[in-house]
Amino acid sequence: MSQGIRTQVGIVGAGPAGLVLSHLLHQEGIDSVILEAHTREYVQERVRAGVLEQNTVDLLAEIGVGARMQREGLIHHGVELRFQGRRHRIDFRELTGRAITIYAQAEVVKDLIDARLAAGGSIFFETEDVSVRDFENHSDRKPAIRYRRDGNSFDLSCDFIAGCDGFHGICRPSIPQGILTTYERAYPFAWLGILAEASPASEELVYCHHDRGFALLSMRSPQLSRLYLQCAPGELIENWSDERIWQELQTRLACEGWTLTEGPIVQKGITGMRSFVVEPMQCGRLFLAGDAAHIVPPTGAKGLNLAVADVRVLAKAVVEFYRSGNRTLLDRYSEICLRRVWKIQRFSWWMTSMLHRLDDSPFDCRRQLAELDYVTSSRAASESLAENYVGLPMD
Ligand code: FAD
Ligand code: PHB
Repeated sequence: MSQGIRTQVGIVGAGPAGLVLSHLLHQEGIDSVILEAHTREYVQERVRAGVLEQNTVDLLAEIGVGARMQREGLIHHGVELRFQGRRHRIDFRELTGRAITIYAQAEVVKDLIDARLAAGGSIFFETEDVSVRDFENHSDRKPAIRYRRDGNSFDLSCDFIAGCDGFHGICRPSIPQGILTTYERAYPFAWLGILAEASPASEELVYCHHDRGFALLSMRSPQLSRLYLQCAPGELIENWSDERIWQELQTRLACEGWTLTEGPIVQKGITGMRSFVVEPMQCGRLFLAGDAAHIVPPTGAKGLNLAVADVRVLAKAVVEFYRSGNRTLLDRYSEICLRRVWKIQRFSWWMTSMLHRLDDSPFDCRRQLAELDYVTSSRAASESLAENYVGLPMD
């Protein structure tokens, strides 16, 4: 026998999408329950994104979860593009008047969980066998989410389900066949990422094109560097000793008058790359948001920011429905989100194709160098990069 509980919006997944949605709804007096497969510690420690657009920063501040981010986050007014051993700065402040903030996704998630729990919100961690049903428009029953926790079965009845359960979640595959169209591109490379106890060798992020492949210098704090290397997709992390990683980073990032600081590596891992979108992002009363609906390669630093942009649209639509019974925004959820999603897909694909070593094509390499030369010498081209990187305006 399963125990029945009830909420207005049932949310699957306590990543940035699910947590921001729950908090936005709470602020409008709408009740939600979040079901998360992992432990609180696991979701708070996962090393992932680090770059927040101004839009994301502003939203987190507006909803009252920005205090620590504003204290500890690093504000950057530009990034560096490095190629052929030369350095070129893209000045966000001058080109757009905006900035980005370096603040780890894990910290954003911590702040959101603290805020949800302090406000009496329901987040159930370590839920198992989560399944969603009765969300299609023709169903005359209310949508429901079944799950198990501490050996007991529960049935959560709700008006709407938000699938915020990431790329490997269960919500997207629960939509009946024939409804979703998938658009996908796989890349023939991956990123090897490390976190190192070393003060970052540059004040701003460095995106580096090199004959041996892409490299990126990022950071988490003045004492912690985050670095990435392009590698083969099937690469095993065991084949990369700390020494080999540093040697490769030194070679790719090398330029005159600049030294990469090394330090103990405290975390390392390999991440695959893909571009992926499903259309529509909704089916009846089930709405997909964030990585559950789309994935971008990390080169544009957009995944988390896009997840937050989706749930901002969803929260607005849900609020309008409860206020006035009007479903117009809910019906248009997918259409509104997808306009932004595709622009971000384009930007992330473009940054990826400009900066990574692609097969063994001398033509592509020449074309990439011409593109980098253009981007760093034309105001129109740098402005376009800057405008996208700091975040396109919200509609
Ligand atoms: P997730 O964060 O994946 O959250 C989904 C949640 O759902 C998870 O907690 C998961 O445990 C839970 N879940 C899954 N299945 C179930 C289930 N069956 N039942 C219950 N719960 C479930 N983005 C940026 O914006 N900037 C960056 O700089 C950046 N860098 C990145 C670097 C790397 C190495 C990687 C891997 C990603 C990066 N991203 C970046 C992307 C960003 O991390 C993701 O886009 C972001 O986490 C998406 O948030 P989400 O809430 O949609 O999904
Ligand atoms: C990061 O700091 O993790 C990071 C920064 C920029 C990216 C991707 C990841 O494009």
